[in-house]
Parts: sequence; C-alpha cells; structure tokens
Amino acid sequence: MDKNYYITTPIYYPSARPHMGHAYSSIVADFFARFKRIEGYKVFFLTGTDEHGQKIQRAAEKIGKDPLIFCDEISKTFKDLSIKLNLSNNDFIRTTEKRHFDSVTELWNILEKKKEIYLSKYSGWYSVSDEAFYSEDEIETNNEKKISKISGSEVEWVEEESYFFKLSKWQEPLLKFYSENPKFILPESRKNEVISFVKSGLRDLSVSRKSFSWGIKVPSNKDHVIYVWLDALTNYISALNYPNTKDKLYKSYWPADLHLIGKDILRFHAIYWPAFLLAANLPLPKRVYGHGWILSGDEKMSKSKGNILDPLEIIDKYGLDPLRYYLLKEVSFGNDGNISQEKLENCINSDLANNYGNLCQRVVSFVEKNANLEIPEKDQFNSDDLIILDDFKKEFNNLIKYINDQELNLYLNFIVDKLFSANKYFNDQEPWKKKSDIKRLNTIIYVALELIRKITIMLYPIIPETAVKVLKIFNIDEMKIDFNTITNHEYLTPKNKINTIEILFKKIQKND
Ligand code: ME8
Ligand code: MG
Repeated sequence: MDKNYYITTPIYYPSARPHMGHAYSSIVADFFARFKRIEGYKVFFLTGTDEHGQKIQRAAEKIGKDPLIFCDEISKTFKDLSIKLNLSNNDFIRTTEKRHFDSVTELWNILEKKKEIYLSKYSGWYSVSDEAFYSEDEIETNNEKKISKISGSEVEWVEEESYFFKLSKWQEPLLKFYSENPKFILPESRKNEVISFVKSGLRDLSVSRKSFSWGIKVPSNKDHVIYVWLDALTNYISALNYPNTKDKLYKSYWPADLHLIGKDILRFHAIYWPAFLLAANLPLPKRVYGHGWILSGDEKMSKSKGNILDPLEIIDKYGLDPLRYYLLKEVSFGNDGNISQEKLENCINSDLANNYGNLCQRVVSFVEKNANLEIPEKDQFNSDDLIILDDFKKEFNNLIKYINDQELNLYLNFIVDKLFSANKYFNDQEPWKKKSDIKRLNTIIYVALELIRKITIMLYPIIPETAVKVLKIFNIDEMKIDFNTITNHEYLTPKNKINTIEILFKKIQKND
C-alpha cells in the first residue's frame, strides 16, 4: 500500500500582505496534512508564494521597488504567517528560486518539442488582477469599465505576439479523464461547472507575454516571458525536484493527492494544469478541491476590496487554536462562510471553554482528588460505557472516509457530538456518589479518561497546540499520536500516573 500523501495550498501572490482568506486555505490544508500523518502516512505538505507576472511587476513599480526586493519582503510575511498558524508544511516554495526556474524551463522545452506550443498573436481581454484571459462573452461593462463577469475584476485589451498552448486538442481527453475520475474535482457542484465550461469548447491558450519582463523567459525566445499560470502551477512539481523524475521526492509524492485551492482558481487547476501535464505526458494529480470564500459582510474578503480581517490581530487577541477551530468548524467546507468576531467569541465560549476545556479540567481534577492522579484499574465496562466508547470503533472507517472525501464538517460533527456525550456521561454516571462502589468509580474514571484521549487525538489536526498539551496528561508525545488507537478502549495502562493541566481556554467576558 502506498502510504505517502502529498497536499498543497495555492502559492499566494505576494502583491500585498496575507489576509484571513489565505490563512483559511492554509489552515485547512494543515488539518488534512496532520490528519494523514496521525493516520500513518508520510505526508509532504507544500505552500509558498507566486512571484512572477504583471500583477507583481505593477505592484512593485507602484511603490518604486525592484520586483525581487518587493517579493522578498512580502513573501516573508507569508512565511511568517505560516509559522504563526503552526503549519506543519515540509517546504515553502518561491517561484523566484532556481529550482523552480529549472523546472518551468524544462516543462516548456518538453511542450515545445512535442509541438504542443506554437507562435501566433493574441488579441483579447486580460485581467492583471486575476492574471487571466477572458473571452468576449465573459466580459461586461460596469460604470464604463470593462470587467470580468466571473471575478468582477477589471480587464484591459491586449494585442501582442504570443505563444499558444494547444488547449483545444485536450478537450476530449479532459472530459474522458473527468468521467473516469469522478472525484477529481470536488465539491460536486464545482465539478459540474468545470465540465460544462470544457464542453462549451476550449480555445488554445496564450502562454507567453511580451509587453513586460518580470517572469521566466521563454528559453528559445527571450523576448517573451512564460505566462505566470504555467509558471505558477509548475511549483507543485518543482518542489519535488522535477525535472529529475528519478528523485526520491518526485517518485514518492507525484502525482499529488490533493491540490487544495479556493474556487476562484479552479479553472487553472482543473483544466489548464491537467492539460499541461497530459501534453507533457506526466501523471495527473488525484484531486483538486475548490473551497468557498471567506466573506466579510456579504463580500469576498480580498486585498483589492480592502475589507480584510487580519489573522495576526485575531490570533493576538484570541490565540491561534480558537481561530483554527472556528474556521474549520463554523465555515461549511466547500461553501462560502461569513465570519465575525462575535461568532468566534461564541464558539470559544461554548465549544472550547465550556465543552472541551471543562471536560478535561473536571475529569483531571476528579482523578486528582479521588484516584491520586493514577489511572485506575477498571472493572468490566457496562452498557453505558460501551455505548459511548463503541462509537469510535463503529465510526472509525467512516471517519477516515470523511477525510478522504474532504467531508470536514462530518468529521467535526462527530467530535462535537462526542464532546457533548462525554460531558453527559460524566454527569449521568455521578462518580462523586460512587465512593462506596470503588470498582464502578474506577471504571467511570477510566472511561472518562479514555474519552478525553480519543477526542483529543481527533482534535489534534484542528487544534494541535492544545491537543499536545492535553495528551501530556497521558504522557503521549506528539510524534506518538496515532489515530488508529481511538478504537482501543483499553489503551491506558492502570497505575500509570497522569499529569495535571492548566486552564485550556479562558471564557470571553462579554460586556454588553
Ligand atoms: O490566485 N476566502 O493567489 P492569491 C477564502 N497566485 N480563500 C481565499 C480568499 C477568501 N476570501 N482569498 C484568497 C493566486 N483565498 C495564485 C495561485 S496556485 C498555483 C497560484 C485563498 O494570492 C484561496 O485559496 O490570489 C484562493 O484560491 C487563494 O487564496 C488565492 O490567492
Ligand atoms: Mg486572487
């Protein structure tokens, strides 16, 4: 069995500082990466920055900076954010690196040699903000400006000599690929959009620009720079040391298991990228998942709209794990999600402080007072015990399936449900009234500790820092966290000491 797993985030444009939308994609990707690791996979998790093209060149020019110096500065803010978000990424790629230059140049040469690319002239609409070409029927006029109907961003007329990629040739092979791999594009609704777009007819794609210079030059014609999307998409193999296809990284991790992206860039990932790979005779990624947008009010949060929520401010105020938990739980994955500080505060109070924090705290202090901080010898489980414990066994395969289908909310619903049940179990069993029945008392304690252990393992990919703290109760190190152990109801060893923990989440006082 192939126990490797490769997951990527988009590489972000360092045209402005990161915002909550970028943090969201990265946190979701980190969730999947961490889950697959504790399931037993060797995971390669990649993120980075997309530094070429007209958008970046213009942003740098606007403030009179050399584009590379400009990118160095802003790329660093993305890297800093990845640390602040506690991402477990294995690499951070920048498209201005030499390894990426080599990879893009080689891919171009292959495509040219295979006659998949030809020289002609482009005349049509271009959005610098999206770095995308739009056809006449994708354009509308708004306040005397021409904008893309799809993204709403302004377009300009471009007329210049350009190399073209024979995209039209790959229309039928792509449709065949989508039908043979029905989960290549998720969620389902997005897949249908892509398929109908491809069915409506693909035209050859302009893959070079002549009117500016910030990019990787076409190897055979230095007047042209390679289209930034052909450049950017290639990052996913550059990081695996392509073009060295004998390299261990490439061999272990390509094709990617999951390109996690926002729905704004689905066309590039679900049409252009597989077409380039088909043309170069390279394997295609297994899945592209286009999640929804984080909205601020009713609008997409974006640099150009200036309505961004700063992840750093939120983290400084509330802490990282509450933000991670909130984004993963409250945004219905795949759909757009409207976020607010008020909802975040409610979520911290109800789920994290009252539900999870309280469970850990009260059980541990009960063990401290009644069992000398020791895991007690348990008696036979009774049916109350087994009802709640066995859910972890019964649902085990489904939980893994949820993750493999990116059904994030189903995975989280299970946890929330178990948190309620665990608190209820402890209340209903009334261990404080069982002091005369020591066997039953010990069994209740044992079950409660087991539940904390199982739930915390499941929470690890969501709130890693907190989960690691809680697992210290049982002396379980981060490297030893194993999802497969949630089906074992007798994992804990009687007589072993447990450790106490500090308050996990402080309730937020609301002064209304
Ligand atoms: O498109 N809600 O970079 P980009 C949710 N460089 N996610 C959001 C978001 C929002 N409001 N705003 C941004 C590019 N994102 C290219 C990608 S990949 C080879 C090249 C996230 O800086 C989401 O993942 O515009 C979206 O797809 C990505 O950031 C776009 O980032
Ligand atoms: Mg964008």
